[in-house]
Amino acid sequence: MSKMVDDIFSDIAGKYDLIGHIFSFGVDGIWRKIAAAEAIIESAEYSVLDVATGTGSLVLDIAEKACKYNKSICITGVDLNRDMLKIAKNKIDTKIDRKKKYSNIKIDLKLEDAMRLEEPAGSYDVVTAGFLLRNVDDAVVFVKELKKVLKSGGKFILLEMGKTDSKFLDFLYGLYFAVIRLAGSLINKDAYRWLTRSIMKFSRDKMIEILQDNGFENIKIKNLPFQICFIITGKNA
Ligand SMILES: C[S@@+](CC[C@H](N)C(=O)[O-])C[C@H]1O[C@@H](n2cnc3c(N)ncnc32)[C@H](O)[C@@H]1O
Repeated sequence: MSKMVDDIFSDIAGKYDLIGHIFSFGVDGIWRKIAAAEAIIESAEYSVLDVATGTGSLVLDIAEKACKYNKSICITGVDLNRDMLKIAKNKIDTKIDRKKKYSNIKIDLKLEDAMRLEEPAGSYDVVTAGFLLRNVDDAVVFVKELKKVLKSGGKFILLEMGKTDSKFLDFLYGLYFAVIRLAGSLINKDAYRWLTRSIMKFSRDKMIEILQDNGFENIKIKNLPFQICFIITGKNA
């Protein structure tokens, strides 16, 4: 992660959840819940790696869904920013740790780089990453790490934001992003300039191409409510 991106997340860590809810009109919660539902697979017992776990929201949504479907899962959340991880730990301690309902859910958080994952090769049944791809220096390096840690036949779920398929919608988002940049400048000017620019630059087609070139199969892309957000899923060969 570049120093600029790291500094941005350290600065906004304490406000990250609230600002995300405000700027997305609460829809970010729905997006993550849809991604979490994708992380429920047939096995009764399995392992999940959430890369760039941030403040741990996706981990919590996966834990909630796993409980609902009586799954026994171990979730490892990794991120390279200590301040984001600190918030994640507090949230998880408050919501999960002492509650009986979650006795089949084990959660671990680690400081780890998505570009050099330290997890054993072929060790995860499911790997998720929410809003990471726009933040990494080289998506190809991350995809190779994803390939390394996923079991053969394992599933990946990538939640991301990028330009839509409609020029008209992109024009409307362009206007809305100008508002976000203005409002965001009161919090952290770089953060919201970076957020809006990286969204408008991100290419879904390029991402699919990278995944295909690296031997992933059954790649699907699903638009989520408001189109700007989407999920890419697929399997390791
Ligand atoms: C936009 S936040 C997303 C957090 C969370 N997944 C969510 O759904 O809200 C992006 C996260 O990616 C992390 N990140 C960026 N580059 C990373 C890298 N190379 N390795 C690990 N984490 C990284 C940041 O620290 C930040 O927490």
